[in-house]
Amino acid sequence: MKQDDPETVHGVSVIRGALTTEEQGALLADLRSIAKVAPPFSPMTGWGKPMSVRITAAGRFCWFSDRKGYRYIETHPDTGQPFPPIPDLALRVWRAFETRADPDCCLVNHYRESARMGLHQDRDEADFGFPVVSISLGDPGLFRIGGTERKSPTRSFWLHSGDAMVLAGENRLAFHGIDRIKFGESALLAGGGRLNLTLRRVAKAD
Ligand code: SIN
Ligand code: MN
Repeated sequence: MKQDDPETVHGVSVIRGALTTEEQGALLADLRSIAKVAPPFSPMTGWGKPMSVRITAAGRFCWFSDRKGYRYIETHPDTGQPFPPIPDLALRVWRAFETRADPDCCLVNHYRESARMGLHQDRDEADFGFPVVSISLGDPGLFRIGGTERKSPTRSFWLHSGDAMVLAGENRLAFHGIDRIKFGESALLAGGGRLNLTLRRVAKAD
């Protein structure tokens, strides 16, 4: 794992190629085991339409959304079981950015060919002093980030397989999303597509 000083890409800290190809393969294998016990699902948006992204999680918490709104849950919506532990490799990436406490949520987003994610803030966590750390796997995703107001100007850049990125400080509450993916560019996922892991601290650290 590459733990160099992150570079700043459009004001955001990114470690390009944080995970080697072998590590990306190992993490993908971990995610496959996670998906077996915690099958990916499509959360409903506030207006009752399923999101184009399928999600699952590792760690204590998973983000969830339905007509009642969004929140973190501690058991899988279909199986009723707790989520499996966060893979070690993902924890190591988090620790490159944050050492005060480990994350208690690793959200896994799966983008198929036409999936995207609209601009939103990550603001359901207890302490915004902790970052959100993201790891990208598979096809490139066009990441868009603005400021703390929905109408703030935005800029965008590509996240590639193995890249790690952190939303911290003035970016912690910035609106962000994924415009589109370059489907089929990466050979990592057999059927194409992009996986994104976001590591977060949902509950207050002791
Ligand atoms: C997210 O904001 O939850 C995911 C962003 C990404 O897929 O890179
Ligand atoms: Mn987000």
